[in-house]
Amino acid sequence: MTLEVIILAAGQGTRMRSALPKVLHPVAGKAMVAHAIDAARALNPSKIHVVIGHGAELVRERHAADDINFVVQTEQLGTGHAVAQAQPFVDAASTVLVLYGDVPLIQTATLERLLTLVSAQQIGLLTVNLADPTGYGRIVRDSAGVVQAIVEQKDASEAQKAICEGNTGILAMPAARLGEWLGRLSNSNAQGEYYLTDVIAMAVGDGLVVATEQPSSEQEVLGANDRVQLAQLERFYQQRETEKLMRAGATLLDPARVDVRGEVTVGKDVLIDVNVILQGRVELADGVEIGAHCVLKDCRIGAGTVVKPFSHIEGAQLAAHCDIGPYARLRSGTTLADGVKVGNFVETKKAQIAAGSKVNHLSYIGDAEVGTNCNIGAGTITCNYDGVNKFKTVLGNDVFIGSNNALVAPVTIGHGATTGAGSTVTQDVPEANLAVGRAKQRNIGNWKRPSKQ
Ligand code: UD1
Ligand code: MG
Repeated sequence: MTLEVIILAAGQGTRMRSALPKVLHPVAGKAMVAHAIDAARALNPSKIHVVIGHGAELVRERHAADDINFVVQTEQLGTGHAVAQAQPFVDAASTVLVLYGDVPLIQTATLERLLTLVSAQQIGLLTVNLADPTGYGRIVRDSAGVVQAIVEQKDASEAQKAICEGNTGILAMPAARLGEWLGRLSNSNAQGEYYLTDVIAMAVGDGLVVATEQPSSEQEVLGANDRVQLAQLERFYQQRETEKLMRAGATLLDPARVDVRGEVTVGKDVLIDVNVILQGRVELADGVEIGAHCVLKDCRIGAGTVVKPFSHIEGAQLAAHCDIGPYARLRSGTTLADGVKVGNFVETKKAQIAAGSKVNHLSYIGDAEVGTNCNIGAGTITCNYDGVNKFKTVLGNDVFIGSNNALVAPVTIGHGATTGAGSTVTQDVPEANLAVGRAKQRNIGNWKRPSKQ
């Protein structure tokens, strides 16, 4: 059977007290609904239907994709009503999996286990045993332990409220009968809603079996109704991601103070100090050390490279054994070859720096190509921008740039050339030449300092 996923994401989330629809609130920098969509995608469904309502246009705008069919539920009349909006788009020969847009931590492995339960005669229901099941729908079983129904908290008898097995809301079933069951739902219940959960008793009545599966941890099925719960989900997520890094070979000096907001891969013997944020796609090769208070986004860092504290690296590729920071800022398009040193208060952007070169202090190197074994003196600036266009600075190999140079692009400095300190270099410098581009010093004898009148 092919799989189609319906993600319920129309609810308002009043308790978030937010102008943003609830499902767009992020966990680890990614909207909760995007986590649900990614969980669905991992199962290779033929279609993903996302039921939207509150903030529908914004959700659609931010998450539009070829594989997603947005279905608008104009009034939120209950989970059954929500699924009914998507049901006409579902192929009757498929299996339907229902996920919630505000339950972002659900694991692919759990969903795969759930899906193995589904057949023409069987529904798969994800349930969870809770110390405090208050608020959850309760799973009602007969004396033989066979699932009969789900009863919502507000409709439950005292005896049913004592049941600790709760409905996660996640379930999978053959689509064939779904339309008929949804058509039979009524809203004569405590909340006046069309409950998806009522489908369970109908299916049992029609002779289907409801088989249950449990998540590996309760955290997987938690939703966020307010920002306190959102923060808890964030911590659970971070704990899971930092554990993956540690199991892959990274030492985290304090896993509670490293945040992963993307896809991070680490080699062996990586060391990550405290208050580090890893965003987007980050690859840290064997033996990389990331100092305290660094922010790394979309970058690849080669083996043995050391990034000292308070450095920011975004959109950069660093080869092996580089020495970065403290307080370095490597921006997009920075490529550093083996053994490059970029020191404190240096900013680079669109800069290719070849092996063994050093930019140790207080510089801006942008739109530049730097050869091997160059030394760029403190305070050097590539003047790459005339206010309208950008120009390139090219340094050959073994170039020595004196301190406090302004390299006015476009400019090329040949192999082995040297520039004097304080030079404003506006013309190309031939190989092995010395360029001095500064006013000649005059000494004035018997100089009298001004005195106070
Ligand atoms: C639901 C289940 C309950 C389960 C609980 C788990 C029903 C009737 N009850 O209750 O058994 O224990 O989830 O958290 O299904 N939504 C829509 N449109 C609607 C209503 C809801 O899209 O008209 C979405 C919400 O945005 C949310 C999800 O469906 O993502 C669940 O809705 P919610 O109101 O939170 O259901 P609960 O009352 O918590
Ligand atoms: Mg809920």
